Amino acid sequence: MQFADRIARIEPSITLTLDARAKALAAAGHDVVSMAVGEPDFPAPLVAREAALERVRSGDVRYTPAAGTPGLRAAIADTLCETRGGEWTSDNVTVCHSAKHALSASLLALVQRGDEVLVPLPAWASYFDLIRIAGAEPVLVPSPSDADGFHPDFDALRAALTPRTRVVMINSPNNPSGTVWSNEEIQGIADFAVEHDLVILSDEIYRALVYDGCEALSPASVSPEARARTIVIDGASKCFAMTGYRMGFVAGPREFAAAIAKLGSQTNGSPNTVGQVAYEAALRGNPPELEEMRAAFAERRTVLLDGLSALGLDTPAPHGAFYAFPNVSEHLDARGSVGFCEDLLEQQRLALVPGSAFGLDTHVRLSYATSTEQINEALRRLGVFLAQGVQPARSANQ
Ligand SMILES: Cc1ncc(COP(=O)(O)O)c(C=O)c1O
Repeated sequence: MQFADRIARIEPSITLTLDARAKALAAAGHDVVSMAVGEPDFPAPLVAREAALERVRSGDVRYTPAAGTPGLRAAIADTLCETRGGEWTSDNVTVCHSAKHALSASLLALVQRGDEVLVPLPAWASYFDLIRIAGAEPVLVPSPSDADGFHPDFDALRAALTPRTRVVMINSPNNPSGTVWSNEEIQGIADFAVEHDLVILSDEIYRALVYDGCEALSPASVSPEARARTIVIDGASKCFAMTGYRMGFVAGPREFAAAIAKLGSQTNGSPNTVGQVAYEAALRGNPPELEEMRAAFAERRTVLLDGLSALGLDTPAPHGAFYAFPNVSEHLDARGSVGFCEDLLEQQRLALVPGSAFGLDTHVRLSYATSTEQINEALRRLGVFLAQGVQPARSANQ
């Protein structure tokens, strides 16, 4: 069978390959500790679960409009007014099957063959291939780091511009580093986009998971000019612990929301009805579980950061999301972060995600969306592994 070019243009996910190996080891009876998962270990808020159950029991589970139910779109618009400021109505919003689907639909609507998308690194692994699926090229722009995280390098972004650059894709709080860009940095991206006539695709899926008194500013909140060229991506998975409900949305200029609804009407019909009912209940219900989850993440984050620092690993402070991204460059052989994670899994039964998946081969990602006991055990295993040093078996020639 012959496949279309786009299949050859994308890579299988390193994360899923390692995850499959971790699961196979666990199924074979090994005691595997995973710090690889990118999903909260909390259930969805009660109000969302009850709304979903009630709707299923009623039997009234039908297609909805392609752009989403009027109730959910209004709830999202009201939430945007509260959290991003300014005036948002349902017409600015199209509901998608997930934030990932919202990203993929946005790229399909914005770029095509020959176009380029700027991606400041590190960046969520899926961005690179979502851009390629849309026919365009990702242009990866390294970001310098300090104790506070990874910062946009505006000189490097400017140098990466070509007449084909259409979009800059940003993600604050960031997966994998947990970096929250300062208000000045967001303002800087907004100015950059206005100056060079770019669309900002702003993935704000971790917006409410912030610590140390930080706030994650959206470029849509900066000025009317920035708002007019910003597409906000958000959803239920991370901040509402509703990964399996598969709910996300795009919010932006009305014509953009309408274009995404048109695309969705042909590619997926309408978003999942039960998921929409549950997400609307969560948005309207102000569930107390959200702050409980955030507070638990904040505590675990301290345990993890203290432990990584005791192991001598330099970790830029993750002020948001639920990941830490330490620099392990001193412990790598020529196979880089993938080899490090493979050996760690085989020798210590500890699953982490290699930084190369996010465009930075010197680091590894640990998710602290897991219990404090697991975090402590992971730190212990990592300590044993690091103490062994780079083993001959991990040398470049083998
Ligand atoms: C940065 C980022 N954006 C989007 C998503 C996708 O979220 P969803 O579950 O809504 O597809 C993830 C999930 O890991 C993510 O880390």
